[in-house]
Amino acid sequence: MIKALPITKHYTRWNWRTQQNEDYTESVVQFILNTPKSTYSFAALECGYLAHIYYGKRTDDEDLVYLMRLDENPFTPKVNSCDMGTFMDNTPFEYPTTGKGDYREPALMIMDSEGQSLVDLKYKGYEITSGKPQVSQELEDMTVTLPATFAGEGEAQTLAVTLADERTGLEAVLYYTAFEKLDVIARSVIITNKGDKAFDIRRVFSTSVDFDSDAYDLITLNGTWARERAIERSKLHHGKQGVDSRRGESSHQNNPFIALVSHNADEETGEAYGFNLVYSGNFFAQAEVTQFRRTRVSMGINSFDFSWTLECGRSFTAPEAVMVYSCEGIGCMSRTYHDLYRQHLIRGEYKDKARPVLINNWEATYFDFDTDKLIAIAKEAAKSGIEMLVMDDGWFGKRNTDNCSLGDWVVNEDKLKGGLKHLVDEVNKAGLRFGIWFEPEMISPDSDLYRAHPDWAIQVKGSSQTLSRTQYVLDYSRKEVRDNIYSQIKAIMDSANIEYIKWDMNRQITEPGSAALPAGRQRELWHRYVLGVYDLQNRLTTDYPHLLLENCSGGGARFDPGMLYFSPQIWTSDDTDAIERLKIQHGTSLCYPCSSMGAHVSDCPNHTVGRTTPFSTRGNVAMVGTFGYELDITRIPEEDRAQIPVQIEQFKKYNPLVREGDQYRLGDMFSDNSHDAWMFVSKDKKEAVFTAVQVLNRPNFHSRRIKLRGLCPDKNYLSSQTGEVHSGATLMNCGINIELSGDFSSVVIGFTEV
Ligand code: DGJ
Repeated sequence: MIKALPITKHYTRWNWRTQQNEDYTESVVQFILNTPKSTYSFAALECGYLAHIYYGKRTDDEDLVYLMRLDENPFTPKVNSCDMGTFMDNTPFEYPTTGKGDYREPALMIMDSEGQSLVDLKYKGYEITSGKPQVSQELEDMTVTLPATFAGEGEAQTLAVTLADERTGLEAVLYYTAFEKLDVIARSVIITNKGDKAFDIRRVFSTSVDFDSDAYDLITLNGTWARERAIERSKLHHGKQGVDSRRGESSHQNNPFIALVSHNADEETGEAYGFNLVYSGNFFAQAEVTQFRRTRVSMGINSFDFSWTLECGRSFTAPEAVMVYSCEGIGCMSRTYHDLYRQHLIRGEYKDKARPVLINNWEATYFDFDTDKLIAIAKEAAKSGIEMLVMDDGWFGKRNTDNCSLGDWVVNEDKLKGGLKHLVDEVNKAGLRFGIWFEPEMISPDSDLYRAHPDWAIQVKGSSQTLSRTQYVLDYSRKEVRDNIYSQIKAIMDSANIEYIKWDMNRQITEPGSAALPAGRQRELWHRYVLGVYDLQNRLTTDYPHLLLENCSGGGARFDPGMLYFSPQIWTSDDTDAIERLKIQHGTSLCYPCSSMGAHVSDCPNHTVGRTTPFSTRGNVAMVGTFGYELDITRIPEEDRAQIPVQIEQFKKYNPLVREGDQYRLGDMFSDNSHDAWMFVSKDKKEAVFTAVQVLNRPNFHSRRIKLRGLCPDKNYLSSQTGEVHSGATLMNCGINIELSGDFSSVVIGFTEV
């Protein structure tokens, strides 16, 4: 529920110039955005500035203006207009700019036609609408729909507040969507040039929130290839701390997510504020502790190496930042993100549907496969109940290793004898559906495409090009490049019964220049590239509404909400080792639902870490995600193969809980106990599944007690392990005893209401 309330305050204040107490009034427009358990509030002051008031636990009080300390600096510049500087540097601006004396992190920076950077945004008005408008970016030759959360009438309300800079004619509309049933506020910004001269946007963040304190810890998700999204938590300190990407994608190294949490916050208690950017390119996320020990959180497209020329009458749309508040710990924050993304971000046929159990041939064969090998895998897989075969890298051009053919999306008939349709038909006949791998954003120097169009690679004229995995990145800012790749993909898609695509992206951008953009627009390349990716994924998912799309980037370098808008699942990491996956999946689940995490059972010793783990544990860990296999099923030990139908049965039994239920993280594999544990509980609390995994066994730790969470205290539950019935209260207050013996052992227990 969003309200705009005019409020007038009367107060008395010492005027140091007249040396007398004086009476004042201040009339503000106060905005209150309420979600079930949170309140977000700010006001337009008489002087025209927007000042933040409060973000936190819900209050139904309609007057929060007292929090603004109108009777003292900094909120009353007119009282003491000769000290406007103090006002500018103290006030918690709702959308801070630069040049007037706020020295903290600005959300907006420009360079105008006279080389000036100053922007002075003043309030013009507001509008409240039901639901949530779709956001898009208009370009010269098309309009790109931007990924964003969606909500119909009755599910959310949207507030649009208009601000304007008189000098340049810059208009900023700040959008806030408050969800009715979730503690979510989604923010985005549209900048329009209403002046008579073009200016360059040098920075346009999506959100900026000023907190009245610095008593928080900052949580970030960091890593590298095969170690994505490890949780790091540290106490805020004076100055700036945060994460970003300058790599052209959201990256393995940092994720566009941060959280501020109270020092006492754990899974169940304390306050947590999550910030997640719905964007797949260069991002910036920061917390800045100021001189007054207040904290400004900033998030948006990275302004590093960014500029965007806004001609008169044109607009720029900043991506959406999703803010979640929880007063019931970090676990509740995660569950809110999960519900939001499952219900209001992920789209298409597979939004709520079970995904097929697939077998992918990457770790089974790498590039060394042919039609016979794939059919053999499919036939064996069919016997075990696997439902789809995914043919990974190496089926096109003359690609037998990773040094050629990207851009030549033509079937290699030396490898796939009889062609793609023959293979797909045979796989279908074996009873499996068929999926295929593409890396549409790339071009190999050794490719027909590159020989014909060397200028289609991203490059800086006069500089050598940096190779990475022997490939360059295609210039997706160019429509003719995207059209060419899309027509090639379409030809493949229309040639056979293909029901799934794995869209990969295996290198980051260097020499960030375009052979087509004019000099003044070269710095737009980073963002235009991402818009190009969104354009193609929009086209693909529109033309093939039944397609199951899985995004991927050298493992999990593009696990972000922007990608989730197009694909209901994302490959989480190239590290398929069950034990490494505990940390990766745990960190990823901080804001992304498990139902979106690509997770496979692979062969042992594991190809990334060389570890051998029980087949059952590999299954139990992969079951948390979309579930599939990535091994040569024709060659694995018979006792492993025999477990596959059992694992699939277990997966099918519990997968509805993973897709629709609530996740509770119970484990602490980082501690001495050396185990991880989690639960999924159905929304009606009638069913639950519990999993625990031993990492390294420790002496005298064989049996441990773990308290369950999320159950209904008054219901009685039957344990699939013991056959005993206990109340939810007992299971949560007293716990269950878990026997895990041996390194990497695991257990799965179902609980059903009786
Ligand atoms: C990186 C992906 O993450 C892998 O799963 C695999 O598809 C390879 N690329 C293929 O080159």
